Amino acid sequence: MCKKRINILVIDASCDETAAAVVTDGRTVRSAIVASQTKLHEKYGGVVPELASRAHIEKIYPVIKEAIDCANISEAEIDAIAVANQPGLTVALIVGVTAAKTLAFAWSKPLIAINHLHAHMQSAIINADDVKLPAVALIVSGGHTSLYDYHSPLEPKLLGATIDDAAGEAFDKVATILKLPYPGGPAIEKTAKNGDPAAIDFPRSLLGKGSLDFSFSGVKTAVLYYCRGQDMKGRNLVDSMSRQQIADIAASFQAAIVDVLVEKTRRAAEKIGAETVLLGGGVAANSALRAQLQQMCESAMPAKKLLVAPKQYCTDNAVMVASLAYHKFNAGVFADWALEPKATG
Ligand code: KG4
Ligand code: ZN
Repeated sequence: MCKKRINILVIDASCDETAAAVVTDGRTVRSAIVASQTKLHEKYGGVVPELASRAHIEKIYPVIKEAIDCANISEAEIDAIAVANQPGLTVALIVGVTAAKTLAFAWSKPLIAINHLHAHMQSAIINADDVKLPAVALIVSGGHTSLYDYHSPLEPKLLGATIDDAAGEAFDKVATILKLPYPGGPAIEKTAKNGDPAAIDFPRSLLGKGSLDFSFSGVKTAVLYYCRGQDMKGRNLVDSMSRQQIADIAASFQAAIVDVLVEKTRRAAEKIGAETVLLGGGVAANSALRAQLQQMCESAMPAKKLLVAPKQYCTDNAVMVASLAYHKFNAGVFADWALEPKATG
């Protein structure tokens, strides 16, 4: 007898995208609809919570409806509704959580709560047949930079996180200083390709000796001082810099961030005796980070296997949420009507 296919409607409104999708067995995407707010926040160089919340309210119903229509699926064929309830902007998350609870209640479907960062972790193992445990997971996104001890998809344990800016946030803010487009990560990576990573010695903040936490506000401020002068009274020198100078700043900044991410991951892997390193989140798309982490894994004693999210699954996507939701569905881990949004992860 063939196994029943499981269709999950996933909803994610954790930051600046309203997303809904219908995914079968955690892998096959039947529809994936995203209303992006990039244009809305572009001129502010970052996400403005009030604008994000209003846009989610406007888009949540049309996006869910389109996801269901495009999947050509009936209400009866949907087995569960999954929603990202943490971490993120509370004013954004609450829109997705309310929509998911309402639908689950009205249609009598099980509700599945998803930690958005745990879903990013899932994207790293999406094509892996076998993951040797224990693993360390480095999740680097626009809002978070976190290291996890990954023993199972259901219970990753947080080892360390950023105490100020996230890596992606630092990329975005430095891109604004360098007058590059938003989102800043891809723009910095592209600009850095023509620059010298050793041109400027930006600080690498490693915090305490055994610390697995991150701090990126220092390197961001160092770039600001470099472009504005120590007293911050001068005009932004970026306007008068050559393309080469800007490329050198971008490459040197990127190198500083990557060095810290790789060193902290090395420490975490050593601490838990990891066999595998997982890399996910928007910043995981960065080629310099992928290459340097690969080198670290190969040269570690004993060597570790690096599993990286495919590029299309680095930034937010429905498959990573659905993949985790499918695990939870099979394990019978469901949420109740008291489910609330939570800002932290
Ligand atoms: O995971 P994500 O899509 O959203 C959050 O959950 O936050 O990550 C978005 C972040 C942005 O800060 C963006 O600048 C960064 O990922 N990013 C990159 C690259 N592509 C996206 N950062 C560095 N290099 C990239 N190639
Ligand atoms: Zn994300």
